[in-house]
Amino acid sequence: MSQSDVPGAAAGTGTVRSHRLAVIGGDGIGPEVTQAALTVLDAAQARFGFTTERTDVSLGADSYLATGDLLTQETVDLLRGHDAILFGAIGSPKVTPGVLERGIILALRAELHQAINLRPVRLYPGVPTPIAGLTPERCDLVVVRENSEGSYVGGGSTVHRGTRAAVATQGSTNTWYAVHRAVDFAFRLAEQRRGRVTLCHKTNVLTEAGALWLSVVDEVAERFPSVAHDYVHVDAMCMHLPVAPERFDVVVTDNLFGDIITDLGAVLQGGLGVAASGNLNIEGSAPSMFEPVHGSAPDIQGQGLANPAGAALSLALCLASLGEGAAAAAVESATAGVLAELPALSGAAMGASTSELGDRIAAAVAQSGTEVQSSLMTQLAAVQAGLAD
Ligand code: IPM
Ligand code: MN
Repeated sequence: MSQSDVPGAAAGTGTVRSHRLAVIGGDGIGPEVTQAALTVLDAAQARFGFTTERTDVSLGADSYLATGDLLTQETVDLLRGHDAILFGAIGSPKVTPGVLERGIILALRAELHQAINLRPVRLYPGVPTPIAGLTPERCDLVVVRENSEGSYVGGGSTVHRGTRAAVATQGSTNTWYAVHRAVDFAFRLAEQRRGRVTLCHKTNVLTEAGALWLSVVDEVAERFPSVAHDYVHVDAMCMHLPVAPERFDVVVTDNLFGDIITDLGAVLQGGLGVAASGNLNIEGSAPSMFEPVHGSAPDIQGQGLANPAGAALSLALCLASLGEGAAAAAVESATAGVLAELPALSGAAMGASTSELGDRIAAAVAQSGTEVQSSLMTQLAAVQAGLAD
């Protein structure tokens, strides 16, 4: 197929679509999985006829230890000048837990108004899952995690710290505005999918926050008559997810519950190495940021033992959000195809290194067709188009 056959390649017009991409490799295995994803991106660009201008942005433990800075205004401004951010991982044993996580990851999500953390839970055909008897047909759901508040807003206090009289309090903030934004997004997404939204919360104990979430779901549901909705407590969700994931299409939930249930979701998909996420700025006021769900795994850093699938699938979400739907779908199916060939999903047992897997996914992208099949990637593009109206 020639370049001019590629959909949207703008053949003959002299203009090629170009996207400004900031790349934050970060700590631990972050840089190596991100590098593998960039190899895949190179192949997608060549195959689908677009370009990217990439800026490496140095953030993480090393730059913090060298400069004392976590996230400066200058870095935020630099990131704002991009269309999207690819993010590897942040976290290091050299820094007290919480400093980098709060000071960089959570700060970025907040500064860039990334209201939604989109976390697909999809088992691809041929990929081994530790859940006995689970099949791909039964495991295709999306968690819409509220990404700006709940117990992640910070605050809290401790009196008599370090003594036996210590009293620590830490609350959870829930505004109608942010809850509504997440719930509305979930209904829009479900409308493009199987038409079911499940609210996951703990309304029997967190009665104040729970009542707000329930009332917002009822309010939003009225605008989406074709979408059914139900409710599941977060503890029950941990039971249903492994045994009956087919019950769920779009799960909308609070920040902390979303954090917890998506690690369980990752297990269903084959493990943390496979799970992808997008921190979405749905107003288009700042770039969205795409990151594998796994962390920095410093114990295996630099040895080529990390599975780059989570990073590659996050790249697919990134491409979908940039309007490169065909490339996004190709990256997703190429990654799924390579995953299905692996004897194991992590470490030396994968039988190939991180960069070799990146090369294999890239080679599959180079060979892929350009027809766009319906997938989360096309659904996401449709939701974004609706939000822009
Ligand atoms: C995640 C991570 C982060 C979170 C941490 C590192 C702040 O666990 O992206 O799931 O809790 O959101
Ligand atoms: Mn997490």
